[in-house]
Amino acid sequence: MTELPKTYRVKNFGCQMNVYDGERMSELLGAKGMRAAADGEDADLVVLNTCHIREKAAEKAYSDVGRLRREDGSKPMVALAGCVAQAEGAEAKSRSKMIDLVVGPQAYHRLPEMIAEAASGRRPVDTDMPAISKFGALPARRKVGPSAFLTVQEGCDKFCTYCVVPYTRGAEISRPWADIVTEAHSLVDGGAREITLLGQNVNAWDSQDEKGRAGGLDSLIRELAKIDGLERIRYTTSHPADMTDGLIAAHGEVEKLMPYLHLPVQSGSDTILKAMNRSHSADSYLRTLEKVRVARPDIAISGDFIVGFPGETDEDFTATLNIVDAVGYASAYSFKYSARPGTPAALMEGAVAPEVMDERLQQLQARLAEHSLSFNRATIGRDTRILIDRKGRQPGQMIGKSPWLQSVFVETDATIGDMLDVTVTQALPNSLGGVLRCADSA
Ligand code: 5AD
Ligand code: SF4
Repeated sequence: MTELPKTYRVKNFGCQMNVYDGERMSELLGAKGMRAAADGEDADLVVLNTCHIREKAAEKAYSDVGRLRREDGSKPMVALAGCVAQAEGAEAKSRSKMIDLVVGPQAYHRLPEMIAEAASGRRPVDTDMPAISKFGALPARRKVGPSAFLTVQEGCDKFCTYCVVPYTRGAEISRPWADIVTEAHSLVDGGAREITLLGQNVNAWDSQDEKGRAGGLDSLIRELAKIDGLERIRYTTSHPADMTDGLIAAHGEVEKLMPYLHLPVQSGSDTILKAMNRSHSADSYLRTLEKVRVARPDIAISGDFIVGFPGETDEDFTATLNIVDAVGYASAYSFKYSARPGTPAALMEGAVAPEVMDERLQQLQARLAEHSLSFNRATIGRDTRILIDRKGRQPGQMIGKSPWLQSVFVETDATIGDMLDVTVTQALPNSLGGVLRCADSA
């Protein structure tokens, strides 16, 4: 029997959905009277909100757990949360004696009672994926920053052969319309001017509106656009197969929907796409993007890529470089394939040698960097609006996001949450420099 923790720290790893879950866990612990530990202060409870998407995820999580032991030999209460918790389940307790409780991504609304159980010496594990969502059991949103996440959809039914998400996050579930609209209002009341709708497969979201009419993500976006004080809407991550005509049209019609689309392609080779079970070809992906560009010509396209999938030949890889050139990505994430236990690709033959993967990743990243730089250069001289979201390193310097999700550095005495009109003066591969557009100084 130990005392109930009074302070907590949530450490997030991985994707934006984990960031969102981490925020909601913090709010839940706060609502139960616990306090976030200050920087440098030992927390009584540490929640490790883990990610399982790439290599050695579990090993990394266990070594992070090990590092929580304090210099005097004592330890905080340790909660293993997130996708590694989901994948490891009760096994986690035998792999590390440090772990006091194991909670999966669909069960964290039960954290307070699990903490009480852990304090009484039991080591509870909850990796259930109940049909009733956790969201109803969480406290309402309160104070947030200018740019907030809102999870609208969880899980994935696509079963790409390399991916653990359908196993760790479960089947696709859409949150109900009314819950999302209510949460969006409280985020805006709490200070958000931008909301990013999140889901592993966000554009597969579908639900009924308050009048019982079926609708996809585009109808939700149109509804949220009516909220006064909400200036910007974004969504991520999308699957090419769920890019409906309605959603594409919304990009041309809804002013608050930002001109940015994260649409992973993974590979430019149809042979590899088929082996990945991606359900689109290179050509159908490009046709979808053509339609998007007709609706919104200035849209910034971003993507995800995997190099070294089993069986990937030089020709397959060249097809990936070709699709990168054909799309002209504004930004992208690229990864070396990593076999995830339990996924179909882990059993496939034709493993690509590590040095070949390294070489391909370098080549791909160099090509992607050229495209980001030319996308950024094309914005030099352009007048645009930025939403200030953090301080820069230099005194008087602030950083804000452009509509195309570029970070823009600017000298200003404005504060976080302000929206400023700037002219872009400088472009780097990952950021822009800008100056204030000021009527008086013109
Ligand atoms: N190996 C490498 N990259 C992966 N991703 C998902 N699973 C794997 C894997 N097993 C990448 C995909 C996905 C992104 C979130 O992570 O590109 O879009
Ligand atoms: Fe994973 Fe594919 Fe689902 Fe994305 S669409 S979460 S890559 S299975």
